[in-house]
Amino acid sequence: MLSISAMYCPHNSAWDGPRIAPRGGELRWPLPEKPARRYLGWSWSRCNRVAGASGAAAASFCSAHVRRSSRHLIVRAALVEQLTQASEALEMLRSRWDAIELGEAERLQPLAEEEVAIREGMRSLEFGDPAEIQAIPQTPSADPVVAGYYRVARALLELEVAQKEWEVRTAQAAGFDQPSSPEVGAFASRLLGIALLRIRLFQHSEAYELLQRALPTMMATQQFVGSEGAAAKHWLQNLCRSTAMSQMLREPGHMQGIDISNSEHLERLQALREELRACGYAAKDILGMTQVPTLEMFADDDLCGQAADALLARAPEEQKGLAELVRFFLLSRPVPLKRLTELMGSPCMEFLLEKQAVTVIRGPSCALVKAEDALKALENAADDFYCFANIKIWPVEDLLIATDRQTWPSQGFEPVMYLSDDSWGLIYGAPREEVESVLDLCTGSGVQGLVALQNYAKTATFVDLNPRALDFVRFNVALNGLSQKVSGIYEGNLYQALPPESGPFDAILANPPFLPNPRGIGSQCSAKFGDGGDFGEDILEAILQGVADHLKPAGHLSAVTYAPNTPEMAERIARYLKSPDEMSPCITVFSSKLKPAKEFKPVSSAVEAVRYQEALDEVGIKTMAEAITLVSFEEKAAQTHFVLKEHLFQDEGYLRSLWKQHLDGCSKT
Ligand SMILES: C[S@@+](CC[C@H](N)C(=O)[O-])C[C@H]1O[C@@H](n2cnc3c(N)ncnc32)[C@H](O)[C@@H]1O
Repeated sequence: MLSISAMYCPHNSAWDGPRIAPRGGELRWPLPEKPARRYLGWSWSRCNRVAGASGAAAASFCSAHVRRSSRHLIVRAALVEQLTQASEALEMLRSRWDAIELGEAERLQPLAEEEVAIREGMRSLEFGDPAEIQAIPQTPSADPVVAGYYRVARALLELEVAQKEWEVRTAQAAGFDQPSSPEVGAFASRLLGIALLRIRLFQHSEAYELLQRALPTMMATQQFVGSEGAAAKHWLQNLCRSTAMSQMLREPGHMQGIDISNSEHLERLQALREELRACGYAAKDILGMTQVPTLEMFADDDLCGQAADALLARAPEEQKGLAELVRFFLLSRPVPLKRLTELMGSPCMEFLLEKQAVTVIRGPSCALVKAEDALKALENAADDFYCFANIKIWPVEDLLIATDRQTWPSQGFEPVMYLSDDSWGLIYGAPREEVESVLDLCTGSGVQGLVALQNYAKTATFVDLNPRALDFVRFNVALNGLSQKVSGIYEGNLYQALPPESGPFDAILANPPFLPNPRGIGSQCSAKFGDGGDFGEDILEAILQGVADHLKPAGHLSAVTYAPNTPEMAERIARYLKSPDEMSPCITVFSSKLKPAKEFKPVSSAVEAVRYQEALDEVGIKTMAEAITLVSFEEKAAQTHFVLKEHLFQDEGYLRSLWKQHLDGCSKT
């Protein structure tokens, strides 16, 4: 899930278009709305957590903390005031640009001078120049400095849009947009420039419209010569595809309406499974063919894609079909609609189109083709009809698991998480003991419950608060022919989603959101699948508190997280946990090597990086590490164990030994 590397690179200020950002990966695409928490409210909840208790110790910790916070606020007040003034001045300037009529060029000079002065004043601000911020997270930060920076950065981008739009209006009035004009190519480039600004402002629809206008002209008038030209063309088309995809995902009905008691749906998805299997769509062959070392790497198309593309292009004749499907369903590449229909057959393609699991695009600007038009074109698709997948399909042992292709949340779209390294950690690390019933909390795609059903559980119950996740669970249950073994699929907050008659369960599996997000500063933590609250353990804590009511006394719980300060984690778990009556927990925390928290930067700008680090320090996070926690219960005294292993999520053999190690540890003491 997380590469613990510097994810924000201040030297790379050139905007090179949107990229898919794995959980905690580098973000180039702005982020969604999320209610801001009041600063003081945050302080108190954090105080309670850090102190771990009420009473005098907590009170003294908290009053010291609040005093320190107040001092910080006072010290920063001048900076916040400066940012507020700059953003107000820029917003005012923009409205004056908007009001300039064509032919009033003489009014531009004073505006330009004012702008230069404002920009000048921002260059030496404490956390860098806001003009260097590439994209504006949509999540409002409760940190006043971060919020101030983003307000200025937004105002700057909006001002640039107003200026470019004025230029476009002027150029149009001069007829430069006419196909016969020698300026038409330059005119299209200006539209592209505005589209890029719109993308940075997270205005996808506007960006899509602009690209649809710009691209055909650019393709017709510009010569993309040599390798640089080819790269530029490729980049432009990728940009169009990404924007088209973002547009498409906002259409209602995406992946909705699968009914696991509907025999037609089951048959259609069974047919898809059989088609994929018939082409050899399985982990071993895919890894061999692409030479990608682990499946988890397919989370980032760019990381593993280019080398894999070249290998797939050279696939032997008998594996050409598999190569196309890997490009389509794992590397998110477009494939000609005709070819895909040949490979999967019309009924499968119809179903995927109806469910908007795939989208058809056409022509040089990758214009979206409506699903009903694509359906009509299926039998005899023109050569310029291409198809891209809105989902990824992962081979997991004998299962096929679909997840969202897009990994960043935006404007009401809450992605269903790809299979990240923590997902694989729990897939292999959870005990594979035969059980009657499993509860998969925070199920996402449903992968954990499905692995359980396939290998060791008679029934599984799936819970998530993202309704889109449950659409994917239904799809995946049907795709794998496991509908008969499903006890329930419920939407809501953890155990509250369950009807009173369900449970208790033999096993609980949980991969909760776990990114520490103090003061909501880390804009890359804002997806529902990522945000674990100030300390990263809000959801884990709630899961552990519900164990007594939902797990059988002989049952066990397995949770995976990327966790702060793991050497103290078993004690924290013991504090959060409510055990079944008369039982005491045996808790083992398996942790990878600890990494300094300062290397952990799920942020998208320099100011966020600094403020996030300060906030991590304030909540007491010193190190981060991969962690798998196993809990079982006995009548003996409570026990906690901590096991350190250099690499955890990556070592399948070791992960499969965790349960035995846990039981050995519990019986020894
Ligand atoms: C890290 S993803 C796990 C996905 C999947 N289980 C896996 O292992 O790949 C966490 C999931 O928890 C869900 N979630 C977050 N808060 C939740 C809550 N309070 N109750 C239920 N689900 C929650 C998110 O929507 C997301 O799908």
